[in-house]
Amino acid sequence: MRVAKAGRIATYEGAHWWLNCLGTGLCGSCVIEVRDGMENLTPRTKLEEMHLSEFPRAFRLACQTEIVKGSVTILTRPKIEAQPRY
Ligand code: FES
Repeated sequence: MRVAKAGRIATYEGAHWWLNCLGTGLCGSCVIEVRDGMENLTPRTKLEEMHLSEFPRAFRLACQTEIVKGSVTILTRPKIEAQPRY
């Protein structure tokens, strides 16, 4: 998230740009999709598991995710479609 902010990369959709939890992991509005380099990130937090339990592991909350080494490729504001519940 700090990297995104420094690069002025928008991680929020619509009104969430102003209405969000300021990075405490409570609102779930800063979803990103990691396209490459997942191994370079911190593990999912409990808050991420709560918000993203029905989404693929590549989905993360930007405010809860830190780069620990190397580089990553992410998609901000990914299309989130209903996931089947089988
Ligand atoms: S800013 Fe609210 S969960 Fe990330």
